[in-house]
Amino acid sequence: MVRSPYDGRAVGTTSYATPEQVERAVRAAVDVAAEAAALPVHARADALARISAGIAARADGLAATITAESGKPLVWARAEVGRAVSVFRWAAEETRTWSGEVMRLDTEPAAEGRIAYVRRVPKGPVLAISPFNFPLNLVAHKVAPALAVGAPVLLKPAPKTPLSALLLAEIVAETDLPAGMLGVVLVENDRAAGLVADPRLPVVSFTGSGPVGHAIQDAVPRKHVVLELGGNAAAVVCADYVGERDLDWAATRIAAFGTYQAGQSCISVQRVYADTTVYDDLRDRVVKAVGALRTGDPADPATHVGPMIDEAAARRVESWVQEAVAAGARLLAGGSREGATYAPTVLEAVPADAKVMCEEVFGPVLALQRVSGTDEAFGLVNASRYGLQAGVFTHDLRTAFRAHRELEVGGVVVGDVPSYRADQMPYGGAKDSGVGREGVRYTMADLTYERVMVLTGLDL
Ligand code: SIN
Repeated sequence: MVRSPYDGRAVGTTSYATPEQVERAVRAAVDVAAEAAALPVHARADALARISAGIAARADGLAATITAESGKPLVWARAEVGRAVSVFRWAAEETRTWSGEVMRLDTEPAAEGRIAYVRRVPKGPVLAISPFNFPLNLVAHKVAPALAVGAPVLLKPAPKTPLSALLLAEIVAETDLPAGMLGVVLVENDRAAGLVADPRLPVVSFTGSGPVGHAIQDAVPRKHVVLELGGNAAAVVCADYVGERDLDWAATRIAAFGTYQAGQSCISVQRVYADTTVYDDLRDRVVKAVGALRTGDPADPATHVGPMIDEAAARRVESWVQEAVAAGARLLAGGSREGATYAPTVLEAVPADAKVMCEEVFGPVLALQRVSGTDEAFGLVNASRYGLQAGVFTHDLRTAFRAHRELEVGGVVVGDVPSYRADQMPYGGAKDSGVGREGVRYTMADLTYERVMVLTGLDL
């Protein structure tokens, strides 16, 4: 039974796959692999474009499903559906230009008359393990690039949010792609180890928590493993970001993206380092902006912050905030819990070793800190063991380039929060935030290897 995290009502019924059903799904992926890899470009591109259109046509139903099963506010669920439309559209477009490379080899006298054609071929069927926080779009990021390169995918969605993935599978099934190119297996997390270890699935793409991701990497060191793990993303507000409009922009963006979908995004703002010259003003504006956010029923289009995925998650966040306050942090807003809903919370003067500062909160909690200059701010950003994205509010191009050069993260967003993501951009982490990249073209490269053909005896 799938239940709404907001009010516990049943929103769908699914059943876990039996071992025989799992085996059938793996075999279907393996059996279709050669045919999938040989599909002509137009067949793959047309199918992907059709999936994109199919998602757009069912946008309202998909958004309602995302909200129902994950508690994500409708406003963010609609945004997620729009992004999934664009991921499949990008995949269709990238497929059409995915032509490989031609290299002349007669750069040396001994290779006269030779030329090379480099094509990319799938590494094999992909096991995709997706998380609950973007039940449609993080599935799209695994499925679309795989279909684009002609690799079958076996998808294991998060047990709490399988319905959006199943709707997507229905849309894929309406295309002319051969059966078996996308299989969805609903299995409990503790049964996933068998799939991870299955040698017939040479690629494992996982998005989720660090401990699980690293356990996968350790379990199958010879497989190609892609890990999109967590982060404790930081926003830096520099001294030059000082005018009324600048501070309002920074504060409203920080407030919104520290709390959107209850902070359950790997790039939601968690740490805020503001220069001492702007700190007090920024803090007051952030607190005001957080106070104005509407919390409540995720199905209400006006709601910004809904419940967390379950009460246990909200209780964990509550205990982390209490621990920070006991260690000396000042609570400026929030700090309360009702069931699975944790109030948008702002803290300051948080000790560096408090979990809300150094671990991934994955909840609607902002920790503000005063800093003296960019040296200190960038040093603190890099002091984390994570490195997914960072936001730097500055107008100074030199500071922007310096941030890009020095911050140990997969992406630096200048003039906005670290939570900004365009789906065609490379997206992924440094340090404990993962290995490999999403972003349609980057995943297509990741799921394939180069195979070169040398032609000889040509009159070039
Ligand atoms: C994530 O939580 O890693 C995904 C964030 C996004 O796609 O916006």
